[in-house]
Amino acid sequence: MSVFLRTLAAASLLITLVPTASVEAYGRDGHRIVCDLAYRYLSDETRAEVDRLVALDTQFDHFRDVCSWADEVRGSTHRHTAPWHYINQTRNDPHVDPEDCAEGGCITSAIDLHAGIFADRARADAERLEALKFLAHWMGDIHQPLHVSIEGDRGGNDINVLWRGERHTNLHRVWDSEILLDYMAETWPYLAEEDRWQPLVEELAADIPLTGVDVYAPLAPIAWAQESHDIVRSRGFAYYWANAEQTIEPGDAYYERNLPVSMQQLKQGGVRLAGLLNQLVEERQVSGRTAPAAVSGALN
Ligand code: ADE
Ligand code: ZN
Ligand code: ZN
Repeated sequence: MSVFLRTLAAASLLITLVPTASVEAYGRDGHRIVCDLAYRYLSDETRAEVDRLVALDTQFDHFRDVCSWADEVRGSTHRHTAPWHYINQTRNDPHVDPEDCAEGGCITSAIDLHAGIFADRARADAERLEALKFLAHWMGDIHQPLHVSIEGDRGGNDINVLWRGERHTNLHRVWDSEILLDYMAETWPYLAEEDRWQPLVEELAADIPLTGVDVYAPLAPIAWAQESHDIVRSRGFAYYWANAEQTIEPGDAYYERNLPVSMQQLKQGGVRLAGLLNQLVEERQVSGRTAPAAVSGALN
């Protein structure tokens, strides 16, 4: 059995000023951006399969629109999936391992699970469509650094923040939404808020030199999670020493320094999602493929 198949087998007052993005996931824009970016790098065969499955969906019309669905159902029809949106490390364990996964599952096990179901053509279309919707969402979440964080503060949701001297929010939301929303508002103030994700996708895509290259990415959720976790432990992230008792005040310098990190993670998520879907649909082996599994350009 190939390594790939084995991997698969093993496998408030001020609050009113805060945008109403979901508390615990990349905001709707983040997921839409990752998925719309990914869609551009799907092979013809994979795009046809993705389009075929999405056309069966009764709620959504386009791939980019299915990518926040997992947040809509985590508190209702799919409660058991609530812990699958993240993985947390103990404070003294900087290395992400499969053993760090919570008993009820976590983001890395969920990626393994849904990649396996999506890849299995023997399964019903409805099951594979649901797996695709989950998988596309997880690939966004795992690239939001605080979805691979240190246990005890709900991924930074309990870290109070006065953001850029203006908005009371929390650190998780800064990384889910605030950085992105600020960048879009500052760059495209003349566009309606709900339309700003489009030029951002164009801008990110223009920055990814993959035109004419088929993108394939092996299933590597632990490695992707480790990258996110390394970011949250980095000095510039201002998280490791933060606590729930003290409000931190990341200002313009924090925004300027971390904007490229946030953008890089969106690009990485998009390219890897495309690469993974291409790999799963075309049943490529991990080895024997010289494929860009990641966007080049150092983060650190
Ligand atoms: N709840 C607990 N840990 C979390 C995390 N890392 N991200 C989102 N929600 C969480
Ligand atoms: Zn999520
Ligand atoms: Zn989140």
